[in-house]
Amino acid sequence: MIAVFDSGVGGLTVAKSLKIQYPALPLLYVGDTARYPWGNKSPAVIRKYCDQFVNYFQKKNINRIIIACNTASTFAGSYLRDHYRQVTFFDVIDPVMKTLTKQFQQRKISKVGIIGTRGTIASHVYQSKIKQLSSAIKIQSRACPLLVPLVEENFHDHPATSLILKHYLQHFTNIDHLILGCTHYPLLQAQIQELLGPKVKLLSSAREIAKQIKLNPNDFSPNRPDEYFFTDCSSHYHELTSRIMDQSIKVKQLPLSQINQC
Ligand code: DGL
Repeated sequence: MIAVFDSGVGGLTVAKSLKIQYPALPLLYVGDTARYPWGNKSPAVIRKYCDQFVNYFQKKNINRIIIACNTASTFAGSYLRDHYRQVTFFDVIDPVMKTLTKQFQQRKISKVGIIGTRGTIASHVYQSKIKQLSSAIKIQSRACPLLVPLVEENFHDHPATSLILKHYLQHFTNIDHLILGCTHYPLLQAQIQELLGPKVKLLSSAREIAKQIKLNPNDFSPNRPDEYFFTDCSSHYHELTSRIMDQSIKVKQLPLSQINQC
């Protein structure tokens, strides 16, 4: 079994891409809806939440964990790898950078846009990795903190979301790539593409991680059902999860009291 976690439903974009790539992969999904959004929180708080989730997964003997959140990958990725040596972690930033590097080697990049949470953008995680790749690549970045609540509200194709997207995206000029630096954003991909035009290539962590991750199907425990938990669960999350995963999904409550003990 593999664990996938995020602040809310954003990590489901990763879970969905993984299930397309590895349909028999049993997964345990946890969205921390009781404490979302994570994007405005400090690195110390994000690390504390990640510690709690990793300890919870370890109690369940799960040793492969996908950090399906850019903010958590940014603030806790190296920390988790250093502290839990027996666990294999997959983050959502490295796969995007790998694809971007290939694009660069094929001379397809001159200006990259990045959108993400306040934390991810302020950390400069993508900006410094791109600069390391080449100082000739121009970069524009923007934090888009209103997008996560819109996605969590199931406003994926609501006119209010188009308006907010227009406001954020008008900042970008002449970019050839846009990094969707938050796992919630692939759910707005069609609208983003429409606003930016077909020439801009969108890089989604959900798609890139699923394309690049190497898992051995022989390691999967057969017939183990997937499980979807939220730390604050209501019928809203049943509808939203089912919509995102394109099938009826039974979601369950994982009380924060259980997480806090970890
Ligand atoms: N989906 C997460 C990310 O990729 C977190 C968004 C949030 O809770 O603010 O950063």
